[in-house]
Amino acid sequence: MSSELRTLEGARVLVGVGGGIAAYKTAHLVRGLVASGASVRVVPTEASLAFVGAATWEALSHHPVLTSVFEDVDEVAHVRHGQQADLVVIAPATADLLARMRIGRADDLLTASLLVTRAPVVVAPAMHTEMWEHPSTRENVAVLRERGLVVLEPAVGRLTGPDSGPGRLPEPEAILEAARAAIAAPRTADGAVRRDLVGRELLISAGGTRERLDPVRYLANHSSGKQGWALAHAALVRGARVHLAAANVGLETPPGAVRTDVGDAAELAATIAAHRGSVDALVMAAAVADFTAAEPADHKIKKDESSTDSVPVISLRRTEDVLRSSVLDRGDAQRPVIVGFAAETGGGGASALELARAKARRKGADLLVFNDITTGVFGADENAVRILDAEGADRGAAAGSKTAVAHAVLDELVGLLADVSSTP
Ligand code: CTP
Repeated sequence: MSSELRTLEGARVLVGVGGGIAAYKTAHLVRGLVASGASVRVVPTEASLAFVGAATWEALSHHPVLTSVFEDVDEVAHVRHGQQADLVVIAPATADLLARMRIGRADDLLTASLLVTRAPVVVAPAMHTEMWEHPSTRENVAVLRERGLVVLEPAVGRLTGPDSGPGRLPEPEAILEAARAAIAAPRTADGAVRRDLVGRELLISAGGTRERLDPVRYLANHSSGKQGWALAHAALVRGARVHLAAANVGLETPPGAVRTDVGDAAELAATIAAHRGSVDALVMAAAVADFTAAEPADHKIKKDESSTDSVPVISLRRTEDVLRSSVLDRGDAQRPVIVGFAAETGGGGASALELARAKARRKGADLLVFNDITTGVFGADENAVRILDAEGADRGAAAGSKTAVAHAVLDELVGLLADVSSTP
């Protein structure tokens, strides 16, 4: 039976722990899941207990820990945990565990639970680069992904020994966000995440630009990057390749996303222009400055000590409207499908929604995601949006977590992509 629960709040989450040194990071993940309101059951493999003991899992999850199908037999634990789970997260998944999952072994409580569950499964592999790149592992991962499991890309960096490369367990914060995206994702009939963006590449801008005034000061905005990040995580669990143009975002990179950090509107515009021609969709979630200093000072702007009234006058000039220029640049081509965002407060006699409808017509993006920011959205985890088309008409609405909003936007995007052939 597929679970109806779509958020971590109140969800029953089974955390499987494989026998790798990265198991210590999973302790932070369990804390994060519990802090998000989930009821967590940790099911470690026997080998993983050599790295982190059962007492740690019991203390963090507030539940007893079982590893074997022969414990708690009267309660039929090997079936119950899998059946009851709303979400399964495996971290770290070793090469051995991936192989056992692929062939459907049920030789411990974790693998038995995996055969029983019909909940979305998020897998965070961690191993040495050679093992990750071995054809056996590549094949196991491909098969598991085909079955609908969300197998995250490992992070690239320093491994346990002196070597470095792909194979690190993604940071707990990033796995937690992937888990949030997976539980909120649309499902297939058998409860797996619907991978309707496989073969698609999305370019997503996120965060807020900073326009330099002098070597110490800048003009900025309140955007945290959370909505763009939620879109990236949601797109990744649905199978997309994701390129993030990140304007001053202090969040862990979503596993598998390619990230280009940008500072100001001009850098963002250049990054988008360099990549928009080769992607299926461009999603402009970033808050881009409309004005930048006409001539940023190359020294710190000083107060005039002779008069307390004197203030510097800084002239501004307009920046490029990246969304509009992307629409113009595409011309009559099918690709990329273009999605804009509109944060409006209303004013000048027009409501926020009226301004958004006018903006949709002006910008010409295929979709414009409108949020009314009079109620406060920056930095918050919640959001409420209306999705408009290029004529300003309603296509959809979503409210709730930024993750839920992200999936609603992707649902519309998937609809539009149906008419667009895949990137070569
Ligand atoms: N945007 C952009 N380039 C800019 C400004 C905004 O690409 N220089 C994009 C944003 O990423 C967003 C959309 O345009 O997807 C709308 O942003 P918003 O700030 O709401 O609109 P503005 O174009 O700034 O219009 P206004 O100042 O009239 O509200």
